Amino acid sequence: MGPGAPLSKIAVSKAHGEDSPYFAGWKAYDEDPYDAVSNPTGVIQMGLAENQVSFDLLEDYLEHHPETSSWGSGITSFKENALFQDYHGLQSFRKAMASFMEQIRGKRVKFDPDRMVLTAGATAANELLTFILADPGDVFLVPTPYYPGFDRDLQWRTGVKILPVHCHSSNGFQLTLASLQSAYSNAEASNFRVKGLLITNPSNPLGIAMSRSLLEEIIDFIVEKNIHLISDEIYSGSVFSYPEFISVAELVETRRHKTYEGIHIVYSLSKDLGLPGFRVGTIYSYNNRVVTTARRMSSFSLVSSQTQKMLASMLSDEEFTTKYIRTNRERLRKRHSYIVQGLKDAGIGCLKGNAGLFCWMNLTQMLEEKSMEGELRLWKMILSEVKLNVSPGSSCYCVEPGWFRVCFANMTEETLDVALRRMKVFVEKIKGRKKKLIS
Ligand SMILES: Cc1ncc(COP(=O)(O)O)c(C=O)c1O
Repeated sequence: MGPGAPLSKIAVSKAHGEDSPYFAGWKAYDEDPYDAVSNPTGVIQMGLAENQVSFDLLEDYLEHHPETSSWGSGITSFKENALFQDYHGLQSFRKAMASFMEQIRGKRVKFDPDRMVLTAGATAANELLTFILADPGDVFLVPTPYYPGFDRDLQWRTGVKILPVHCHSSNGFQLTLASLQSAYSNAEASNFRVKGLLITNPSNPLGIAMSRSLLEEIIDFIVEKNIHLISDEIYSGSVFSYPEFISVAELVETRRHKTYEGIHIVYSLSKDLGLPGFRVGTIYSYNNRVVTTARRMSSFSLVSSQTQKMLASMLSDEEFTTKYIRTNRERLRKRHSYIVQGLKDAGIGCLKGNAGLFCWMNLTQMLEEKSMEGELRLWKMILSEVKLNVSPGSSCYCVEPGWFRVCFANMTEETLDVALRRMKVFVEKIKGRKKKLIS
């Protein structure tokens, strides 16, 4: 047989990004996963931003409220779930999501359930928004380092391009107005049409939340340039220490003028609630036309009625959500200080973080050569010798070599201890090697 009839440009495009070390590390883990009993020398997965620290709270809720996850009584309930679902999503679930998002923001903002568009996770939400806001060949500015999945979500099927806005360690990788202005001017000089800016607040992979003053500057910038702002707030409920999370929604409410038509928020239950398998996300837009179009497009990635019903019931129980949000934050805070201290004991520093399920680890001192090749060599050593899958900064488009994202909430404390012990031994070994080379 010959090669067969050719496929579409999307099918053969490399823009999905699956070949990057970010995904390659996952494969290495899948082939040799660590297990304390059956495979104690296997790879520990520290490249997956998954939150398992509060899973027991969800299980406990379901145990005490069996009606939440069952069909209810009789055939009518089964039928209600199984038959046609209109693409607006269930009103009861949109209401529950809106109030959960308000609670995360300390009830300082209001979300209108009629503006909530449901999607199969933030992945679908980000792609769907890109389809609505930009045309093939248009550009979205994205501050680096950024979540590697954005290559797939923003570029692959839409034909839109990401133009990185590079941030640096000299100011803790904070986005600045000057770097935004310069990226915008470079895009214009290259005849690209900039349609928007995507921020991740709190940041993945940095684990820090943006300040109010920076958000003010960002809004002024998008208003001045007449472009859109997507604020991916998927980690908004995972801010565990000061300063507290500020959503663009708060700024929209305090400003109270037309500028908000270009502002769109993305959220999902994958991180704060630890339910990435359920595929539940949402777009909240202040623009009526975007809401209408997003709702039409959401037909391609709806959330099943059964999932919506179950979560509507869980998230509208305010006693449960209040306790969950508080406990989850506290547990993440403890985990974060535990890993930061453990790494410090091994002689490794991290960027000071206050959010997320990971920390941004500085291994610049361990590079044999200060280059991206040097970083990838170190990453391969960590994967094959130390058997830890961490994500190299270059996979997040960080321009400074030697930074790595390390996830800490997808494992038990015992596994985290094993990982930290392995890292300490590795650092000693590298130090020993360096000493030998010098003497
Ligand atoms: C910043 C960011 N946006 C979106 C996603 C995708 O999330 P979801 O599982 O809801 O599709 C992730 C997942 O890691 C993420 O970190």
